[in-house]
Amino acid sequence: MEFSRAIKIAPSILSADFANFGAECRAIEAQGADWVHVDVMDGHFVPNLTFGPATCAAIRPHIKGVMDVHLMIAPVDPFIDAYAAAGADVITAHLEAGPHIHRTLQAIRNTGKKAGLALNPGTGIDAVTHLLDMVDLVCVMTVNPGFGGQKFIHSQVDKVRSLRAIIGDRPIHIEIDGGVTVETAPLVAAAGADVLVAGSAVFKGGSVSDPAPYGANIRAIRAAAEAAV
Ligand code: DX5
Ligand code: ZN
Repeated sequence: MEFSRAIKIAPSILSADFANFGAECRAIEAQGADWVHVDVMDGHFVPNLTFGPATCAAIRPHIKGVMDVHLMIAPVDPFIDAYAAAGADVITAHLEAGPHIHRTLQAIRNTGKKAGLALNPGTGIDAVTHLLDMVDLVCVMTVNPGFGGQKFIHSQVDKVRSLRAIIGDRPIHIEIDGGVTVETAPLVAAAGADVLVAGSAVFKGGSVSDPAPYGANIRAIRAAAEAAV
């Protein structure tokens, strides 16, 4: 994984056909997705349940590029090795998921994977200052985690701008997760984000048997974001 600040579109398979993950992953990559975003939920840290490590391992062979695993689970530490073994390239944990985020990020780095730090909309960026040497990605949640298809929270754009200033020249991605559309992508791209997660806005109108809309949606989001940088 070579570092670049170019805009990357990361479709979330939370909006995919749950009976068809392998084909959906192949379809979004063929249609121009840069990363594949996998939303792991535990029904405890967030009010929804999704994928275990076995599902991640099963879809891994269907992804050529980056598998971006977003852990919305608490505790995190007991499951890091399992998601690393399942083939994640990036493993992101929430600051709010436990008392020892420094230890968690260390544990992720120890697996050889890229370490991501996710921040809920109500969380400030002070902690990031003390973790800059520990993270490869900071994920700014622009919805409250748990569900796809929610409305973008505009107050987070200023957070992205401040984060971008703190990161400076360091090779740390800024990822945006939640409510990314053609309308909101330019706002966060202009503020300094480079990885745009999008679920409903990528999968809308398409299917495995008719994947062309995925491509049109990805190109539209990318074009809107790039025009704002
Ligand atoms: C929210 C997830 C997001 C979500 C994005 O808890 O982390 O990745 O699926 O979905 P949209 O793009 O529909 O807001
Ligand atoms: Zn996510």
